[in-house]
Amino acid sequence: MEDRGEGEEPAAGLHFVGMKEDLIKAKRSFRTLEGRDILVLYHQEMFYALDFHCYHAGGPLQNGDIEEFDGKLCIVCPKHKYKISLAEGESIYRATNPYDPVPTTRWYSKGIKQRVHTVTETDGDVYVTLSHMSRFIESDYFQGEKGKAERERM
Ligand code: FES
Repeated sequence: MEDRGEGEEPAAGLHFVGMKEDLIKAKRSFRTLEGRDILVLYHQEMFYALDFHCYHAGGPLQNGDIEEFDGKLCIVCPKHKYKISLAEGESIYRATNPYDPVPTTRWYSKGIKQRVHTVTETDGDVYVTLSHMSRFIESDYFQGEKGKAERERM
Protein backbone atom coordinates (compact mmCIF):
# COMPACT_ATOMS: atom_id res chain seq x y z
CA MET A 1 0.00 0.00 0.00
CA GLU A 2 1.25 3.50 -0.76
CA ASP A 3 2.13 5.90 2.01
CA ARG A 4 -0.49 8.50 2.74
CA GLY A 5 1.03 11.96 2.85
CA GLU A 6 -0.50 14.65 4.99
CA GLY A 7 -3.77 15.85 3.47
CA GLU A 8 -3.94 12.98 0.96
CA GLU A 9 -7.04 10.89 0.71
CA PRO A 10 -6.75 7.10 1.04
CA ALA A 11 -7.30 4.97 -2.05
CA ALA A 12 -10.92 4.41 -3.10
CA GLY A 13 -12.64 1.80 -0.99
CA LEU A 14 -10.31 2.23 1.97
CA HIS A 15 -11.91 3.72 5.05
CA PHE A 16 -9.69 5.14 7.74
CA VAL A 17 -10.95 3.72 11.06
CA GLY A 18 -8.35 5.01 13.51
CA MET A 19 -4.80 5.07 14.69
CA LYS A 20 -3.37 1.66 15.44
CA GLU A 21 -2.43 2.52 19.02
CA ASP A 22 -5.93 3.87 19.78
CA LEU A 23 -7.63 0.81 18.31
CA ILE A 24 -5.34 -1.50 20.26
CA LYS A 25 -6.17 0.35 23.46
CA ALA A 26 -9.90 0.22 22.72
CA LYS A 27 -9.76 -3.47 21.61
CA ARG A 28 -13.29 -3.18 20.18
CA SER A 29 -14.45 -0.19 18.19
CA PHE A 30 -17.70 0.64 16.47
CA ARG A 31 -17.63 2.35 13.09
CA THR A 32 -20.26 3.12 10.46
CA LEU A 33 -18.81 2.91 6.94
CA GLU A 34 -20.95 3.57 3.87
CA GLY A 35 -23.99 3.17 6.15
CA ARG A 36 -22.81 -0.21 7.42
CA ASP A 37 -22.21 -0.86 11.13
CA ILE A 38 -18.83 -2.51 11.66
CA LEU A 39 -17.00 -3.92 14.65
CA VAL A 40 -13.22 -3.48 14.50
CA LEU A 41 -11.48 -5.88 16.86
CA TYR A 42 -7.94 -6.20 18.05
CA HIS A 43 -7.08 -9.62 19.46
CA GLN A 44 -3.76 -11.44 19.85
CA GLU A 45 -1.90 -8.86 17.76
CA MET A 46 -4.35 -9.04 14.87
CA PHE A 47 -7.08 -6.72 13.63
CA TYR A 48 -10.42 -8.05 12.42
CA ALA A 49 -13.50 -6.30 11.07
CA LEU A 50 -16.94 -7.82 10.81
CA ASP A 51 -20.55 -6.74 10.70
CA PHE A 52 -21.48 -5.31 14.07
CA HIS A 53 -24.81 -7.11 14.56
CA CYS A 54 -24.91 -10.89 14.95
CA TYR A 55 -26.44 -12.61 11.93
CA HIS A 56 -28.77 -14.74 14.07
CA ALA A 57 -30.91 -12.09 15.77
CA GLY A 58 -28.85 -8.93 15.81
CA GLY A 59 -27.05 -9.65 19.10
CA PRO A 60 -24.34 -7.30 20.39
CA LEU A 61 -21.14 -8.97 19.17
CA GLN A 62 -19.02 -6.24 20.73
CA ASN A 63 -19.72 -7.87 24.11
CA GLY A 64 -18.87 -11.42 23.02
CA ASP A 65 -15.99 -13.47 24.41
CA ILE A 66 -13.30 -14.57 21.98
CA GLU A 67 -12.27 -18.22 22.16
CA GLU A 68 -10.76 -20.84 19.91
CA PHE A 69 -13.03 -23.68 18.77
CA ASP A 70 -12.03 -26.39 16.32
CA GLY A 71 -8.82 -24.47 15.60
CA LYS A 72 -10.75 -21.29 14.71
CA LEU A 73 -10.70 -18.06 16.65
CA CYS A 74 -14.36 -17.18 17.22
CA ILE A 75 -16.45 -14.50 18.83
CA VAL A 76 -19.26 -15.95 20.96
CA CYS A 77 -22.40 -13.89 20.63
CA PRO A 78 -23.63 -13.05 24.15
CA LYS A 79 -27.28 -13.39 23.14
CA HIS A 80 -27.57 -17.09 22.22
CA LYS A 81 -23.89 -18.16 22.26
CA TYR A 82 -23.48 -18.74 18.54
CA LYS A 83 -19.82 -19.05 17.58
CA ILE A 84 -18.61 -17.02 14.59
CA SER A 85 -15.06 -17.24 13.24
CA LEU A 86 -13.31 -13.90 13.17
CA ALA A 87 -11.36 -14.56 9.99
CA GLU A 88 -14.20 -15.79 7.78
CA GLY A 89 -17.52 -15.15 9.50
CA GLU A 90 -18.23 -18.89 9.54
CA SER A 91 -20.75 -20.10 12.10
CA ILE A 92 -19.76 -23.35 13.78
CA TYR A 93 -21.47 -25.56 16.32
CA ARG A 94 -20.79 -28.77 18.19
CA ALA A 95 -23.29 -31.60 17.99
CA THR A 96 -23.82 -35.33 17.89
CA ASN A 97 -25.48 -36.98 14.92
CA PRO A 98 -27.63 -39.79 16.37
CA TYR A 99 -27.64 -41.51 12.95
CA ASP A 100 -23.86 -42.01 12.95
CA PRO A 101 -22.92 -45.68 13.50
CA VAL A 102 -20.94 -44.54 16.54
CA PRO A 103 -22.45 -41.20 17.57
CA THR A 104 -19.71 -38.84 18.64
CA THR A 105 -19.78 -35.15 19.31
CA ARG A 106 -17.95 -33.05 16.73
CA TRP A 107 -17.87 -29.60 15.12
CA TYR A 108 -20.11 -28.73 12.19
CA SER A 109 -20.21 -25.64 10.01
CA LYS A 110 -23.29 -23.65 9.03
CA GLY A 111 -21.19 -21.80 6.44
CA ILE A 112 -20.36 -18.13 6.15
CA LYS A 113 -23.07 -16.20 8.00
CA GLN A 114 -21.38 -13.00 9.14
CA ARG A 115 -19.86 -10.61 6.63
CA VAL A 116 -16.19 -9.91 7.37
CA HIS A 117 -14.14 -7.05 5.98
CA THR A 118 -10.48 -6.49 5.21
CA VAL A 119 -8.26 -4.56 7.61
CA THR A 120 -4.96 -3.01 6.51
CA GLU A 121 -2.47 -0.82 8.30
CA THR A 122 0.00 1.75 6.99
CA ASP A 123 2.34 3.73 9.21
CA GLY A 124 0.06 3.43 12.22
CA ASP A 125 -3.13 4.26 10.29
CA VAL A 126 -5.72 1.48 10.14
CA TYR A 127 -8.16 1.09 7.25
CA VAL A 128 -11.11 -1.15 6.51
CA THR A 129 -12.17 -2.17 3.02
CA LEU A 130 -15.75 -3.37 3.03
CA SER A 131 -16.53 -6.80 1.64
CA HIS A 132 -18.36 -6.48 -1.65
CA MET A 133 -19.04 -10.19 -2.05
CA SER A 134 -22.24 -9.97 -4.02
CA ARG A 135 -24.19 -12.86 -2.54
CA PHE A 136 -26.49 -12.31 0.43
CA ILE A 137 -24.88 -13.09 3.76
CA GLU A 138 -27.22 -13.42 6.76
CA SER A 139 -25.69 -10.52 8.71
CA ASP A 140 -26.74 -8.21 5.81
CA TYR A 141 -30.27 -8.45 7.19
CA PHE A 142 -29.31 -6.22 10.12
CA GLN A 143 -27.67 -3.57 7.94
CA GLY A 144 -30.69 -1.64 6.78
CA GLU A 145 -33.58 -1.97 4.38
CA LYS A 146 -31.54 -3.32 1.47
CA GLY A 147 -30.45 -6.39 3.49
CA LYS A 148 -33.98 -7.00 4.71
CA ALA A 149 -35.34 -6.78 1.15
CA GLU A 150 -32.68 -9.23 -0.11
CA ARG A 151 -33.66 -11.81 2.49
CA GLU A 152 -37.34 -11.42 1.63
CA ARG A 153 -36.49 -12.20 -2.01
CA MET A 154 -34.79 -15.50 -1.10
FE1 FES B 1 -26.30 -13.83 18.25
FE2 FES B 1 -28.55 -15.16 18.66
S1 FES B 1 -28.30 -13.07 18.29
S2 FES B 1 -26.55 -15.89 18.75
